[in-house]
Amino acid sequence: MSSHGGETRRLFFALWPSAELQQACYRRARRVVREGGGRPVVAANLHLTLAFPGSVGAEVGVCLEEIASAISLSHFTLTLDHAGYWPGPRVSWLGSSETPSALRELARRLNDGMTQCGLKPEQRPFTAHVTVARKALRGPLHPAIEPLAWAVADFVLAQSLTLPEGAQYKVLRRWPLVPDGGDRD
Ligand code: 2AM
Repeated sequence: MSSHGGETRRLFFALWPSAELQQACYRRARRVVREGGGRPVVAANLHLTLAFPGSVGAEVGVCLEEIASAISLSHFTLTLDHAGYWPGPRVSWLGSSETPSALRELARRLNDGMTQCGLKPEQRPFTAHVTVARKALRGPLHPAIEPLAWAVADFVLAQSLTLPEGAQYKVLRRWPLVPDGGDRD
């Protein structure tokens, strides 16, 4: 959405793994990509999207940052334990058989925040996933992967840039989660 015809940026909220975790995801993704085909996402681009505002102007961007700043939720651990494939968008992904309640709540708050900032919220239920290949042809032969425990201590606002060499993501800002406790509603 453009604000008074000004510049827009394509923004999204995400969990951003450390470089080490990105490598660990990438290693697990190799077999998935071998079996399912498609274009692998480079390690530095691997992330888990929490909410996708899309193209927004500066004012909406400020509003989204205020929403994120008001969030106080606990650290949690997300265990990536299987791979899957969605035939519609043709993506292969790594996912978790159990979504921590703090993660679900974080995604819900950010999505609700989009409405408060005048954007359309996501209608589809939140499904935590790390996309590992695009334009994939089929799902993995064996969905199980070596489990990967991801200790999540913060979330980010990122910008998606479309460059001739493909998508590039830039982390703009990071918000910490609360080591113990957080909101209990
Ligand atoms: P994906 O990984 O499931 O494709 C940056 O583009 C991130 O935002 C990607 O991780 C992508 O999720 C997500 N994204 C892109 N377009 C989207 C859309 N229209 N709705 C929801 N999420 C989107």
